[in-house]
Formats: sequence, structure tokens, C-alpha cells
Amino acid sequence: MENFLGKFLKEKFDLMQTEPSVVGIDIGSSFLKVVQLKKKKGKAVLETYGELALGPYAGLAVGQATSLSVEKISTALKDLFREANITAQSSAVSIPLGASLLSIMEMPIMDSKQLAKMIPIEARKYIPVPISEVVLDWWVVPKHYDSVDDSSAEGNVKEDERKKRVDVLVVAIHNETVDKYRSIIQESGLKNNFLELEVFSMARATFGNNTAPVMLLDFGAGTTKLAIVEYGIIRNQHIINRGSQDITISISKSLGVSIEKAEHLKRDIGLTGAGADADISKAASLTLEHIFSETNRVLLNYQRRYNKTIKNVVLTGGGALLKGLHDFAGSNLETEVLFADPFSKMEAPAFLEPLLKDAGPEFAVAIGLALRKLQELG
Ligand SMILES: Nc1ncnc2c1ncn2[C@@H]1O[C@H](COP(=O)(O)OP(=O)(O)OP(=O)(O)O)[C@@H](O)[C@H]1O
Ligand SMILES: [Mg+2]
Repeated sequence: MENFLGKFLKEKFDLMQTEPSVVGIDIGSSFLKVVQLKKKKGKAVLETYGELALGPYAGLAVGQATSLSVEKISTALKDLFREANITAQSSAVSIPLGASLLSIMEMPIMDSKQLAKMIPIEARKYIPVPISEVVLDWWVVPKHYDSVDDSSAEGNVKEDERKKRVDVLVVAIHNETVDKYRSIIQESGLKNNFLELEVFSMARATFGNNTAPVMLLDFGAGTTKLAIVEYGIIRNQHIINRGSQDITISISKSLGVSIEKAEHLKRDIGLTGAGADADISKAASLTLEHIFSETNRVLLNYQRRYNKTIKNVVLTGGGALLKGLHDFAGSNLETEVLFADPFSKMEAPAFLEPLLKDAGPEFAVAIGLALRKLQELG
């Protein structure tokens, strides 16, 4: 009896415990996305999420890419917080991949203090701007990556040499970019936050302990971003200068309709148009063929260079919601295609599940940020 009561009270107490909520904020070029999570009994629980189109804040249509001032972004963020009932102040914000420079540097093995001294010096060879103008961050790539199957005498010498060196992933972000994001956070009244390059957030939200190389394809509005991830570490990244807004523009041109109308047609019909709607799907497939042929090139180059097979391409970003994309991508990409399902990493009401599965690719960055913030709370 005592035990039962004790357990009951403990459960009540656990429920009453007010663990702070955290919010992940993805400032995309066309949409702001936020996800609020809380930890309950060691598990991530979804509290609320939402998105807001930024186009209208720049006098553009919904779905179009923008480049907004700090003030405009902060205003939009406040609007979205109100709309989505975001109450958390503890936040994490993403920095776009395009605002960074990623390099893999080969360094002699040394301790982390020495590395901290040597990397800024070595980075000068890779980074085309003065080192004083960037913020640097780095990760040593775990050694097991590079074991090469070469047992010849020459191979053994090479292997010995390799053992004395490590690969280091170095990320450089311009000071001005970091300042801009810090100002947005400040203007929006957020606290305890950190900034992270979106590709890292996406990788966290997308895989578990996947060790085989996987390609992430983020189909955004203005651009499509590719990243090859192995053991949770980014090995390679590439930006294609076409995105989902190019489909809208091409529908608008080929049908002679407004951008707003074209955006609706893209979402309603996508690649499934037949008969009178065939032109819509044709316009969409032209943009996609360009994107996928460049994706295949990056994929095959990596496979050839490292003699490894990329098992999957995981699609993320709002552009991945295009109707019929799964089949189209499946027949146009050289590897198996999956859709990111980042909401599966948390508890959420069962009735929301189908909705969350569909919306998942769009919210991968915001979810990855919120998950890291939760981890930080311990
Ligand atoms: N259901 C849908 N069907 C087709 N396209 C869609 C759908 N929902 C959103 N999109 C498109 O996805 C794009 C927005 O995707 P996302 O939110 O990932 O972009 P972003 O993060 O703002 O852009 P970026 O990452 O390039 O800065 C828009 O161009 C929009 O038209
Ligand atoms: Mg994005």
C-alpha cells in the first residue's frame, strides 16, 4: 500500500515537475519553422510546432526565397511565436549552409590544445578570407573512416603514414553572419541559445546510429543542399543553385499564371498531373531533372573517390513534399530514396502521427536544433 502510494505520488510529482521547454528555430529563406519540445521522463515530447512564410514580409509571394533584415526576421519570429503558442525562451537557431565554409583538413595527430593553436594557422590555406574575420569550429573525424583495404608492402607504408594523421572537419562562419543571428536572437527576446549550422541539425534529426554513408538532400526554396554524412559526421557538402521556387517560376512562365497561382498548382498537382495538367508536371520535372543529375554526379564522385557505397538519399526540406516526388526521385537517383521522419524521435499524440509524418521533412532542421538543446539540459 505504501509502495503504491509512493509510486503514485512520484508519478504525480514527475508530472508536476516543470522542466523548461526548448524551441528550435529554422530561419529558412522562404519559411520560418519552429518546434517546441520538453523532456518528460527522459524522453523528448512535442509541445507545439509551426511555420510562417517569409515571402510576404519582403513583398513576395508565399514560398519565394527572401533575404530579410534583422528587424523583419524578428518581427516574423514574434508573429510565428504568437501563432504557434511558443512559450519557450531557451532556444537554438540554425545558420544556413551557404553562409559557411566547410573543409576537411588533414593534420598530424596532436592533443586538443595543440590542435586549437594549429587549426587557425592551417585554415589559412583553405579559407579565402582573413581568419580574424571568421568564427572557426572543428571536429576530429574518427579514425576508422580511413582504413583502406590495401595490404601490399607499399600499402602498409602508406597505411602507417595515415595512422600518424587525422582528418579534421573545420567550419568557418563569417563574423558578420554570426552577429546577424545574435541580433535576431536578442531582438526576439530569446535566451540561453546557441547557433548551429543547419546541416548538423538536420543530420541529428534524420539518423540514429547510421554508420554507412548517407546523403542528405535538403530541397529548399532557393537552393538544394547536399551533404554526405558518415558516422554522424559531415564528409562532403554541395549546394545546387536551384530549389522548389524554380518549379513555381517555371509553372508560372509555362502556363502564363501568377506566382501565387503557380505555387498552388505546384502543391496541388505536383508531378501527378495528367491530361490538361500535364504541363504543370512537365515544368516541375525539368527543374528536378537538373537537380537530380547534379545530385547523381556528387554521389558517384564520392563513391568513386572513397570506394564506398552511399546506401540512401534522405530527402528533407519543404520541396520534398511535392506530390509524386517519391517515385520520380526513385527512378532518377542512383540510390534508394527515403523521406526524413524526424518527428519519430519524440512522443506526440497518436492522432497527429500521419500529419507529422508528412510534415517531417520540412521540420528536420528545427527538430534537430530542439533535440540538441534538450540534450544540453541533461
Ligand atoms: N506541399 C508542398 N508541395 C510542394 N512544394 C512545397 C510544399 N510545401 C512547401 N513547398 C515548397 O518548399 C519550399 C520551402 O521549403 P523549406 O521550408 O525547406 O525552404 P527554406 O528552408 O525556406 O529554404 P532554404 O533552405 O533554401 O533557405 C518552398 O519553395 C515551397 O513552395
Ligand atoms: Mg531550409
